[in-house]
Amino acid sequence: MSNPEILVISGSLRKASYNSFLAVHAVKHVPAGFEARVYAEMRDLPHYDADLDNQTPPEVVARLRRGISDAAGILFITPTYNYALPGGLKNLVDWATRPMGSHSMVGKRVAVTGASPGPSGSKQAVEWLRSMIEPLGATLVGDEYLIPTVHEKVDIASGSVDAEVDRYLSTVMSQLVQ
Ligand SMILES: Cc1cc2nc3c(=O)[nH]c(=O)nc-3n(C[C@H](O)[C@H](O)[C@H](O)COP(=O)(O)O)c2cc1C
Repeated sequence: MSNPEILVISGSLRKASYNSFLAVHAVKHVPAGFEARVYAEMRDLPHYDADLDNQTPPEVVARLRRGISDAAGILFITPTYNYALPGGLKNLVDWATRPMGSHSMVGKRVAVTGASPGPSGSKQAVEWLRSMIEPLGATLVGDEYLIPTVHEKVDIASGSVDAEVDRYLSTVMSQLVQ
């Protein structure tokens, strides 16, 4: 049997995304005895439609739900779009949280962080998503951690990450499976 998995989900679809880069970096801090991967199908999810949400939802949705259900923990790393969660990530959360009360995130350990080039460090999206976790029946893990001026803290070309951000990602990956 394979090791339990941490699923890391970036809220950005952009190829050169800082948040997706940090998601890939977080995977490198997978604790011993676990596996980790970055969720790669956000762009393939249809818009949430209750008419598609029946006994046989789209396969990409079924895979998302299975991935979350089977995961030991979930780490969201997201930008803020217009003071809120990016639409694609909100859509993913909507698919993941039906049917109400018995969905894939119930009881799941979930951590949330986010990065922005600006001074806010994605505060609005991170706060919004963190505020949703407990009402959705999941368990919020880790303190709020924001990554402002991310372009000064990571170098995507060389793969380097500021020591404090690196430490946070390492810590939160461990906290997810404690
Ligand atoms: C539609 C849109 C809305 C944005 N709104 C905000 C915002 O409200 N606050 C903010 O600090 N940055 C905002 N930004 C800038 C993003 O923080 C920046 O583009 C960031 O790099 C996106 O994350 P990524 O690098 O992971 O793709 C916005 C960007 C886009 C494309």
